Amino acid sequence: MTVHLKGRSLDSLLHLTTEEIEQILKTSKRLKLQLFQRKKHPLLKGKTLAMIFEKPSTRTRVSFEVGMWQLGGYALYLSAMDLQLGRGETIADTAQTLSRYVNGIMARVFSHQTILDLIRYSRVPVINGLSDFTHPCQGLADLFTIYEKKGRLSGLKLAYVGDGNNVAHSLLYGCSKVGMDITLACPDDYAPDPGVVSKAKEEGKKSGAKVKVTNDPQEAVKQADIIYTDVWASMGQEKEHEKRVKVFKPYQVNERLIREAKKDYLFMHCLPAHRGEEVTDEVADSKQSVIFDQAENRLHTQKALMAMII
Ligand code: CP
Ligand code: NVA
Repeated sequence: MTVHLKGRSLDSLLHLTTEEIEQILKTSKRLKLQLFQRKKHPLLKGKTLAMIFEKPSTRTRVSFEVGMWQLGGYALYLSAMDLQLGRGETIADTAQTLSRYVNGIMARVFSHQTILDLIRYSRVPVINGLSDFTHPCQGLADLFTIYEKKGRLSGLKLAYVGDGNNVAHSLLYGCSKVGMDITLACPDDYAPDPGVVSKAKEEGKKSGAKVKVTNDPQEAVKQADIIYTDVWASMGQEKEHEKRVKVFKPYQVNERLIREAKKDYLFMHCLPAHRGEEVTDEVADSKQSVIFDQAENRLHTQKALMAMII
C-alpha cells in the first residue's frame, strides 16, 4: 500500500495508520544510514519550520533544529513568551500568520487543545512536539529504537511503570497499533486516560496487541521485553512533586523490580530523568539501557516525518 503523508499534521499516533507508522520507521532507517554514510539528503531544501515552545526542551528543540538543517531547511526557535501569543494574540491568528511564512509548524504546549487549534487554523502541517495529552514524536522514536534493538515490534511486551501521562498515552497508541503488548502499572489516581486505554484496546483487537492497566509494578514487569518509565511530575506539575514522590515510591524502576523482566530486557526512558526517583542510576546506566539511542532516534524519526509531511 502506498502511503501519502504530504500536507498532514500529527497531533497523536492514534491518527496514523499502522502502515503510515511503518513507512515513517522505514524512512527513518534510510535517513539514519545516509547520515552515517555522510550522504547528503536535502529533501527539504529551502523549506522552513517554525518551532513554538511554551515549555523548556533539550531533545525536541535540538533534534528538530539539527534535523531541519540536515534536510537542507531552516528552523526558527520561537519561545511562546517572545511571540505576541505571550501578550494575548490568539492561537488562530498566530497559526494563520505563521502559515504565510513557513512550510511547517512544530509546537510544544501545555494544553492539547492548542495543538488542535493550531492544526485547525494553519495552512501548513503542524507537529505536536509534546502536549499535556500526548508526545507522538517520542512514541515514533521509541518504536524505531525497539525495532532496531529487537528486530521486530509485534509480539513483544512493553511494561510502562509510573505516571499515566502524555508519554504513556503515546506508547498506548503506538504499541497497540504495531501489535506490541503493553501493560501499564500506575498508582490508582494516576492511571492513563480511560478514553486512550479503550481506543488502544480497540487498536489492539486489530493488531493482536494486549493492552492492560494495573497498579502492580511487579505484575507489569513480569516477562517484559521492555521496561519504560518517565518522570513522576511532568512539566507544569512541579507543585505536586513532593506529594507525587511519596505516592510513586513503590513504582521506582530499580534492580529489584527488573528481576521480573526477561533477561534481555531493554530499559527505556524518554528523558529528562529524575535519577533516584523513577529510576536508579544502576538501571539507567546499565548495558541494557537504551535511553541515549532513544534520544538520538528523535533526530532520525522526526527527519523522516518532516520529509514526508512537508
Ligand atoms: N524527551 C523529550 O521530549 O525531551 P525534551 O523535553 O528535552 O525535549
Ligand atoms: N512527561 C514528561 C515528558 C518530558 C519529555 C513531561 O511532560 O514533562
